[in-house]
Amino acid sequence: MSDGGNRERFDGQMQHWEGYLSSTPDMFGEAPSESARFALDVFRDDGARDLLELGGGQGRDTFLFAGAGMNVHVLDYSESAVATISEKARKRGLSGGVTTRLFDLRRPVPYPDGSFDACYAHMLLCMALIEEEIASLCREVHRVLRPGGIFIYTVRNTEDPHYGQGTYLGEGIYETKGGFIVHFFDREKVERLAEGFEIVGIDRCEETRLPKRLFRVILKKR
Ligand SMILES: C[S@@+](CC[C@H](N)C(=O)[O-])C[C@H]1O[C@@H](n2cnc3c(N)ncnc32)[C@H](O)[C@@H]1O
Repeated sequence: MSDGGNRERFDGQMQHWEGYLSSTPDMFGEAPSESARFALDVFRDDGARDLLELGGGQGRDTFLFAGAGMNVHVLDYSESAVATISEKARKRGLSGGVTTRLFDLRRPVPYPDGSFDACYAHMLLCMALIEEEIASLCREVHRVLRPGGIFIYTVRNTEDPHYGQGTYLGEGIYETKGGFIVHFFDREKVERLAEGFEIVGIDRCEETRLPKRLFRVILKKR
């Protein structure tokens, strides 16, 4: 698998996100997503405390987890995203429970093995990442989770209204009219990426506006 010669286009997404997130406060709204509410129940049942959040955006879900007493470590490659979450944490008196780091998730995750009880990634794996990069990120999540740790992620799927629209970049990846690159998943892709995990569930859910159609995937480290 390769990016089909689209490397510059994929790399440009960092600036694209930075532009949007720095000029659009609460781009996804202030309220936590339904996916985060669902995930919090699962994490609580599992007794999880230390959480890794991938692609936290402006923190709408971060503060649901932190407010429930979890220690949340957020990685995102947008400077504005990371600064916004840190500032919100300070204002809410939650700086002790929220750690942010500017980080490109195409690189190995910067934590030792077994650091976390759980990992959460809402609409991050379906960004401008080729399957090889997503597989490598899933292996990294597996590595930094403790045995039995839970990984919950959502991705836009091939039933999404935007699937098949815009410029095709290979592997089910499209650049939409708004200039965002989205990797649309089918069920087989979700299953391929679950190596080393027990698949606890693959559900369909929706995200407001459009609506975006998502898979919500619950994995447990074997
Ligand atoms: C669709 S938004 C979702 C934000 C947040 N999870 C939410 O639902 O509110 C995707 C986020 O992932 C970040 N992102 C995309 N690709 C990334 C990468 N390679 N490394 C780190 N962050 C990335 C973007 O900056 C953006 O904040």
